[in-house]
Amino acid sequence: MKVFNILLYIFGITLPIILLISSFIKPTIRKIIKNIFIAGTIFACFYILKLGGDHLMNKDIIDSKEPEEITTNEIKTSEEKVSTTTMDEHKIINKDGLYYIDGYLIVNKTYPLPDDYVPTNTYKDATGQDYCPTCLDIDTYESYKLMEADAEALGLNLWIQSGYRSYNLQTRLYNDYVSRDGKTLADTYSARPGHSEHQTGLAFDLNTITDSFAYTDEGKWVDMNAYKYGFILRYPKSKEEITGYKYEPWHLRYVGKELAEKLYNNGDWITLEEYFNLTSTYSD
Ligand code: DAL
Ligand code: ZN
Repeated sequence: MKVFNILLYIFGITLPIILLISSFIKPTIRKIIKNIFIAGTIFACFYILKLGGDHLMNKDIIDSKEPEEITTNEIKTSEEKVSTTTMDEHKIINKDGLYYIDGYLIVNKTYPLPDDYVPTNTYKDATGQDYCPTCLDIDTYESYKLMEADAEALGLNLWIQSGYRSYNLQTRLYNDYVSRDGKTLADTYSARPGHSEHQTGLAFDLNTITDSFAYTDEGKWVDMNAYKYGFILRYPKSKEEITGYKYEPWHLRYVGKELAEKLYNNGDWITLEEYFNLTSTYSD
């Protein structure tokens, strides 16, 4: 890809400039360069066609930013479908319709979950559930319990207001919000069905789902300490354009301690979108 860029630069930009300058010099030189320029133009057309082809092949995984390097590889077995995409230094895998980047499940406006996805390996079985605060991934739930106990020892009261939510429940919630506030506003605070982290069993809302939670003792402590238990504040303040959602001081996502500490960034939260260079936008 880099070689193509250099050739494009030479043929597509440098030669037209030389041609322009040469038109003031000898007519024979001008003719030679003009021919090279025509060849370069043809080459550039091929290159643009190639880019278009690449884009179409990868359109389900590429975001609107142009990555440095993208390669795809698709492996099919009788039971599952796996495709791999490399964006910059990160590897996105689509396995059975779920997107993982460097092993982390990604769900946002760009990367959805399958409609019928129900997490397994949960504390309480999520099968057939619509709304279940404890139907969380085991590591997520156990880490939450540790955090809850440490908070309690400090006199802070944490509870899970909303944990796992099924695709169907998210559909009902989102439709209610759209009826109430209209689609544009609803999209700033509610995920469309299939786009909510609550369907993963890796995310939950704490205590009161109101902006004032950030100013409570619990909210301040969670903001500064959740990363120690492997959680990130998924929708931080001033990152609305990046995550696609307004600030949610109550919504935590489990990513494990190593990544959580990096994203905590000494209190200046980095989003998953920034860290992995991802977009979060709906295609329609
Ligand atoms: N409020 C978050 C974005 C959700 O609906 O999942
Ligand atoms: Zn939430």
